[in-house]
Amino acid sequence: MQAEYRQRRSQLMEKIGNGTAIFRSAPQAVMHNDVEYNYRQDSSFFYLTGFNEPEAVAVLSPHHEEHKYVLFVRPKDPEREVWSGYRVGVEGAKELYGADEAYSIAELDEKLPQYLQNADKIYYHLGRDRAFNETVLKHWQQLMAIYPKRGIGPTAIQDSGTIINPLRMVKSPAELDLMRQAAAISVAAHNHALEFARPGRYEYEIQAEMEYIFRQHGALGPAYPSIIASGANSCILHYVENNRQLQENDLLLIDAGCTCEYYNADITRTFPVNGKFTPEQKTIYEIVLAAQEAALSHIQPGNPYGKIHETAVRVIVEGLMAIGLLAGDIEEIIKEEKYKPFYMHRTGHWLGLDVHDVGVYQYGENPYNLQPGNVFTVEPGIYIGPLTKPVEGQPEIDDRWRGIGIRIEDDVLVTPDGCEILTQGVPKSIPDMER
Ligand code: GLY
Ligand code: MN
Ligand code: MN
Repeated sequence: MQAEYRQRRSQLMEKIGNGTAIFRSAPQAVMHNDVEYNYRQDSSFFYLTGFNEPEAVAVLSPHHEEHKYVLFVRPKDPEREVWSGYRVGVEGAKELYGADEAYSIAELDEKLPQYLQNADKIYYHLGRDRAFNETVLKHWQQLMAIYPKRGIGPTAIQDSGTIINPLRMVKSPAELDLMRQAAAISVAAHNHALEFARPGRYEYEIQAEMEYIFRQHGALGPAYPSIIASGANSCILHYVENNRQLQENDLLLIDAGCTCEYYNADITRTFPVNGKFTPEQKTIYEIVLAAQEAALSHIQPGNPYGKIHETAVRVIVEGLMAIGLLAGDIEEIIKEEKYKPFYMHRTGHWLGLDVHDVGVYQYGENPYNLQPGNVFTVEPGIYIGPLTKPVEGQPEIDDRWRGIGIRIEDDVLVTPDGCEILTQGVPKSIPDMER
């Protein structure tokens, strides 16, 4: 794997030219008082380094004669390591992680300037670590103060996302292995949930069964808080209480996926807990499934990303018009987003080290055209909640539709000649969702 990280760094360094890029590790998150969450590294930092400790800084300075890759890390400290685990340390950063030079993080202020002073630009993402943002700005300011005397130094800061995000948007074979692994484990958990759910069970029991499968197969855990939403809870997009008992005639919407070495899966299925859709549930399900299938059929290299959402919206609007939940001119309904009370989110997002992964979706008015190696979700839905209100001038909602929330979400890889649905192992046809 070290060769893979080295390869990523050299790809990035080609883009940096005479600049210097600085990447900051994620902070250690606190659960409460002095109890900490499991550590979760910053995704871009991890992408470039594979280094999984807090209080670290990676510097890439391709123009530096000897030290093109420098790591600042926590020094080894046997006493502290007894409490909070092994540290790679300064020597380890060089020997195990391939840094040309490494220092204790305590030396950052003293050592960083030598990597910035001859750069023409600093690449850095202003993140949530305000204190570290200040540190970077302070060094930049100090170098600008002596710029008139030297006539060399960084005259600009550019967001590092502009150079690293395009790399992260195209997954390598090693990344795809991990994404396939996360997808396969998540598929197994969903298939088990389909069998396990029935009236009388509680949402949390289904959550427990699924998360057991995640961990049992070596995943780190859920990629995001599992959504196990029965009945009208299915209309709450980020429902996470998961404490209701499933009733006869309920739909169950499950949005859950696991994370494998930080790579994520994100799957949603919706099905009737007693094995039989009501006519209204079936009608809405058919529309959402048709919207997803239409969107999926559009995916191949060169096609604009935005067309996927447009396609799904059109099928949803046509479907809602056919059953009298929307009325009027279809083009106007789409243009003025009159469908939004029923479909308020986008049809997907990039997927990778982050569940909502980095990357642009369009360039101003110009589209982002799909490339082999892009991975994203396709997740249309229709939600008719107890309180859903049509926009003015649109039909009233008959009570028989209320409480129906349906989403179908798969993870898709763009391949050279089309696409591969990484999560197709979970069924979604109507006969498969019934029993
Ligand atoms: N589960 C989060 C999402 O679907 O985007
Ligand atoms: Mn999801
Ligand atoms: Mn999603």
